[in-house]
This record gives sequence, structure tokens and C-alpha cells, in this order.
Amino acid sequence: MFFSKLRPALFLAAFGVSSLNIAYAADLEEVKNKVQMMCANCHGYDGVATLIGAANLSGQQESYLKQQLKDYRSGVRKNAMMNVIGQSLSDADINNLSAWYANIKITVEPPAPPQ
Ligand code: HEC
Repeated sequence: MFFSKLRPALFLAAFGVSSLNIAYAADLEEVKNKVQMMCANCHGYDGVATLIGAANLSGQQESYLKQQLKDYRSGVRKNAMMNVIGQSLSDADINNLSAWYANIKITVEPPAPPQ
């Protein structure tokens, strides 16, 4: 199907702690738990959205993710769900969750030309 071809193949890079820009390696388990408990229901553990209307986050630029989370937290960017979630995040959470999703490696395949 066309859309399944658009879906990026995903490779979780997170199994190698060293590739992840999370402040302390010890934080990794905590970050994984946060992702599972707070984000995965809508954005997926691997950053492929499971809720219609929630964005794919895997491989997104880290600085972009941080900025969006700060903007949801402050209310500059408005969305009923993300404003509530944003308010429960500390600066460290924002940095760590952004690093998590940004460090998931993706490959993309543009749509095939028409036959
Ligand atoms: C209940 C579902 C839900 C949960 C849980 C959730 N999100 Fe979201 N998220 C959304 C929706 C829906 C949007 C799109 C909002 C909009 O249109 O601005 C979104 C948008 C975002 C965006 C902006 C994406 C972009 O491309 O601009 C980021 C970043 C984000 N979420 C991160 C997170 C993180 C990190 C968590 C966990 C701490 C989380 N979200 C938990 C539903 C959710």
C-alpha cells in the first residue's frame, strides 16, 4: 500500500547508550520509563505515532523537539493534550525526551515513480 511505503523503516539506535546524548548513562532507564509511561501511547516508543493527529517524532531534530516541548509548556503553542503534558515536564525531562526521539535512527524511502 502506498502509505505503508511512506512509513519510514525504523532502527532503534538506543540500544547503544554511547550514541545517545542523554546527560548521564544512568538516566537512560529513567528516560525509557518516561517515554513508555508518558509519550508512547500517542507517539510510540519508537517515535512512530500511534494516535491519528500525533506527530512522528523519531529522527526529528533535537533542537526542534526541545523548542516544541517548551512552547507547549509555556502555552505559546496550543494543544489541549500537549499543554497538559508539557506542564509536567522539567527542563531535564525536555532535554532527555528530545534526545531520545532525536536519536532514533530512521531511513526514508521517497514514493516510487509512477509505473
Ligand atoms: C494523549 C496523546 C499524547 C501524549 C501522551 C503525548 N503527546 Fe505529544 N502530541 C500529541 C498530539 C495530538 C500532538 C499534535 C499537537 C498539535 O497539533 O500541536 C503532539 C505533538 C507533539 C510534539 C510536536 C511535534 C511536531 O512535529 O511539532 C512533540 C515534540 C511532542 N508531542 C512530544 C511529546 C512527548 C515528549 C510526550 C511525552 C512526554 C508526548 N508528546 C505525549 C499527543 C500526545
